[in-house]
Amino acid sequence: MAESVTVRAPCSTANLGPGFDVFGLALDAYYDEIRLRKEGKGITIQSSSPIPLQPEKNSAGLVVREMSKKFKIKSAITMKIKKGVPAGFGIGSSAASAAAAAVAFNSLFELNLDSNTLVQFAGIGEMASAGSIHYDNVAASVLGGFVIVRTNPLDVISIDPPKDLVLCVAIPKITVPQNKTKVSRSVLPQQIKLSDHVENLANAAVITAGFMKKDVNLIGRSIRDIIVEPARQHLIPGFNKVKTNALAAGASGVTISGAGPSIIAFTSKSADPRKICKAMERGFAFAKTKCTTIVCKPSKGASVI
Ligand code: HSE
Repeated sequence: MAESVTVRAPCSTANLGPGFDVFGLALDAYYDEIRLRKEGKGITIQSSSPIPLQPEKNSAGLVVREMSKKFKIKSAITMKIKKGVPAGFGIGSSAASAAAAAVAFNSLFELNLDSNTLVQFAGIGEMASAGSIHYDNVAASVLGGFVIVRTNPLDVISIDPPKDLVLCVAIPKITVPQNKTKVSRSVLPQQIKLSDHVENLANAAVITAGFMKKDVNLIGRSIRDIIVEPARQHLIPGFNKVKTNALAAGASGVTISGAGPSIIAFTSKSADPRKICKAMERGFAFAKTKCTTIVCKPSKGASVI
């Protein structure tokens, strides 16, 4: 058995519009790296990033604590966390760490867990930041590509994205509250109209078909959410302007990335992603907000390096 293992896991975008808490897509924009080593005393976290170092307050720490308990592993574990994914911007930062931790633990202790079980453990890490478990980001970070999560009972399905799918992500430079995901979940309606459900469900179903048929345009024009996006958009300065600008610049679909505040545009290689990024930057500038834009592609899932 190895004494240490290092795993790299990608960031991700969740929801893709109508797939709230169900869809995720791994992105090759940023990665977290976690090294687990059998040494020290209890569970110790080391990091040079400004993250909580108490295992119960850290998404990766929670995962390792739960897995140690569940598999009755008594070994001391020292975790070294290298954060590459910016935290609090809706691109699955806590999930990348949680996914890397679950995959690393599985490998270090040779548990041979299947992907549903890995995702289930990684999901526990979301408690640390979101206060509730949702599996869309962690599933994408564990498995890579486009994922669909059905929670009850848990089933995670992964589909290879079309090769020509390109994403433009605009990350605004705004201060986000510590418990941002909790806040952005608290503004969501508890009840919805049946006709709204039908519309979102149809769009979500077509997105799945778009991924299966490798049709970027079909995916893009189905990234339409009339339930969650309208309830959250007021939390993002300039949202409407960023969205209309990106669509006018050639994006086929635009929505909030996860719980925000980043905004993601779906496009293909044949469009001009840099032009879409510039259009998104102008949208944020209209609301006197600076942003970082990044052109990226779908990523593979967490892997031992
Ligand atoms: N599906 C979750 C949400 C993702 O939108 O609240 C949070 O990262």
